[in-house]
Amino acid sequence: EVLEQTAAESELGEFEHYMLKEIFEQPQSIENAMRGRFNEDEATAVFGGLNMSAKDIRKVDRIVLTACGTSWHAGLVGEYLLEEFARIPTEVEYASELRYRNPPMSENTMIFAITQSGETADTLAAMRECKRKGHPTLAICNVVGSTIAREADGGIYLHAGPEVGVASTKAFTSQVTVLTLLALYFGRMRHLSYPAGSRIIRHLKEMPRIIEETLKCHEMVKYVADKYAKNNNFLYLGRLYNFPVALEGALKLKEISYIHAEGYPAAEMKHGPLALVDEVTPSVFVVPKCGIYPKVISNLEEVKARKGPVIAIACKGDDKIAELADDVIFVPDVEEYLQPLVTSIPLQLLSYHIALHRGCNVDRPRNLAKSVTVE
Ligand code: G6P
Repeated sequence: EVLEQTAAESELGEFEHYMLKEIFEQPQSIENAMRGRFNEDEATAVFGGLNMSAKDIRKVDRIVLTACGTSWHAGLVGEYLLEEFARIPTEVEYASELRYRNPPMSENTMIFAITQSGETADTLAAMRECKRKGHPTLAICNVVGSTIAREADGGIYLHAGPEVGVASTKAFTSQVTVLTLLALYFGRMRHLSYPAGSRIIRHLKEMPRIIEETLKCHEMVKYVADKYAKNNNFLYLGRLYNFPVALEGALKLKEISYIHAEGYPAAEMKHGPLALVDEVTPSVFVVPKCGIYPKVISNLEEVKARKGPVIAIACKGDDKIAELADDVIFVPDVEEYLQPLVTSIPLQLLSYHIALHRGCNVDRPRNLAKSVTVE
């Protein structure tokens, strides 16, 4: 037992928990997700294991992404990316629903099962159902040799290394990275120009350094966690690429802090959740610089007008936000489509520190499992 403990400790290194270690591994895990996957001469991405001819890939006219939990949130980001860069109609399906539904799918629909573990029962069943109907069914997976990786027609590994914390962190950002590469790849086979492809590659290559920079928000997040750890209800709000980030932020808080949290597209507030706003219900606004920044700000003002405390995740240099929000966590300014990689990080850290405050077991939350191999 003593030996085991020493092994675990050395694996954890300077970190108190796997979750924190895995959050801080993200500059590296994102780098690993991209390694060897750029063809700069052709301004595109390359994948070794899709097992499909370029001709068949060009025929794809619809993409279905299926997953559970955090991987499903990565799928939502993927939908926005694939539709924006490749203009391929994309849908994201909960695997637990897809397995028992029978949605019409054109012959050239391609399926991606997104899964960290490669063992999630519902994701496996949904994948089998799609395969049965003859669709090319690929996996975006972390665990090498897992059931889903083996049964898929082909796929893309995340190479994120083992993820031990039950609440997924680095696998999420790796999934989003791979989906960005995929959007670039499909885009370059269709409407995306050479300069546009090159620009995406250039920006992606900067991400490991930018994530390193983002992690410097840690001290500020600790301060914010300290201030709000006793609150029992949270709202997480974002728009466009940051809407899935809001969902993921809320999920992290539920999973490890056992706090009721809801993620919403910020503009949907007025259709219900605004009724929840009061002096003890903080709203976490994910509001980096974007094309509709002023719209998100007006959503934020609606919350402030109802006396709701506001924690903003905003871009460095955004002076205006400090006047409006109660607390601001600043992150580096990146292209809109790369924002989920950056904005999800303070939210991972926030849930971690709030959970610590509340004495929760961050690596092994109650009632949850790392991989759900039963239905
Ligand atoms: C469980 C885990 C989550 C994970 C989900 C899907 O609920 O606790 O962290 O997101 O399963 O897992 P997968 O391995 O398929 O990505």
